[in-house]
Amino acid sequence: MSKRFLAVLGATVLALGLTACGGEGAGGGGDTSGNKPADLTIGVAMPTQTSERWIADGNSVKEKLQAKGYKVDLQYAGDDIPTQSQQVDQMITQGADVLVIAAIDGTALSSQLQAAADAKIPVIAYDRLIRDSPNVNFYVSFDNYKVGVAQATALLVGLGLQNKDGSKGSAKGPFDIELFAGSLDDNNAHFFFDGAMDTLKPFIDDKSLRVKSGQTTIEQVAILRWQQETAQRRMEDLLTSSYNDGTRVQGVLSPYDGLSRGIITALQNAGYGAKGVKMPVVTGQDAEIASVKLINDGVQNSTIFKDTRLLAEQAVVAAEAFLQEKEPQANDTKTYDNGVKVVPSNLLPVQTVYKDDIKPVLVDSGYWTAEEVASGQAKG
Ligand code: BGC
Repeated sequence: MSKRFLAVLGATVLALGLTACGGEGAGGGGDTSGNKPADLTIGVAMPTQTSERWIADGNSVKEKLQAKGYKVDLQYAGDDIPTQSQQVDQMITQGADVLVIAAIDGTALSSQLQAAADAKIPVIAYDRLIRDSPNVNFYVSFDNYKVGVAQATALLVGLGLQNKDGSKGSAKGPFDIELFAGSLDDNNAHFFFDGAMDTLKPFIDDKSLRVKSGQTTIEQVAILRWQQETAQRRMEDLLTSSYNDGTRVQGVLSPYDGLSRGIITALQNAGYGAKGVKMPVVTGQDAEIASVKLINDGVQNSTIFKDTRLLAEQAVVAAEAFLQEKEPQANDTKTYDNGVKVVPSNLLPVQTVYKDDIKPVLVDSGYWTAEEVASGQAKG
């Protein structure tokens, strides 16, 4: 039975004033047409289970929707684009009422989104903007440009070029650094890199920072699908090609904890972090537990914490608004142009986590326990 049909029918009944119902029940769930949450399914498409953040995102969205009584179809695509397209196709044919999608390739879902629009299924882009389609109704994410600013700032603070309060640091440099970026098909990777480069540029210009490899464009430094092993290999290649003259890399801009771990492995294999060879300042993102331990142990400099519990909550709020045939509330209607239209967005703040911030920010908020931080493993 098409729930959409019921919804449209229900809305018509309401519009004609033929209902004696004085509004929704106290529970407030369901849509204005009178569909109960249990009649409504939300399709949730997540990219991969190789990174723990997406597992946490998927679980949080699912739990929060189920707690309100909705049905949830949660799928992971193993970072494979055809798999994700097929999963979204299937959600549509199986009668999803709203779609929440964290895309693998932000440009690869146009035909699925057309089918969703034809079936009047609202689409919420989750964390990653879906590009090149008019059929994206809303975007929930973090302030992605600020993530990049925060990563570059952490690098500057770690090197001593800047203080945490933004004032000029006591170090002069020049420091040798290398840059990494995420997957080019992920819209976020560009925002992260732009935010970082805008912040680093004055220091590169005044020569207190030097990218010794000369690789400074996003195309040169991007890591396809955000793969840890690819980052490790690139770092190994950089060490061989640009640091075989006795110089040491002193800082690495890394946009994601998984990449940071690959980079750190390459550095450790080359002797960094042992026998008086200083580990460079390495940044990160996501507060993954293995990386939080590395920060706690003084190996990784920092990470950027994005509270996925809050993002999941925003996705649920937006999904419910659509189910009730309302527009979700945006706090940004300018930044996220997907190539066809500016997608109204709700953006959450981000937070830099250095070693001293682990307890107040991650442990006290219940994101990780002290035991998990000490062991570097999630208890599940
Ligand atoms: C997310 C990051 C994540 C990266 C790799 C990006 O789209 O915003 O939080 O680190 O994907 O999974």
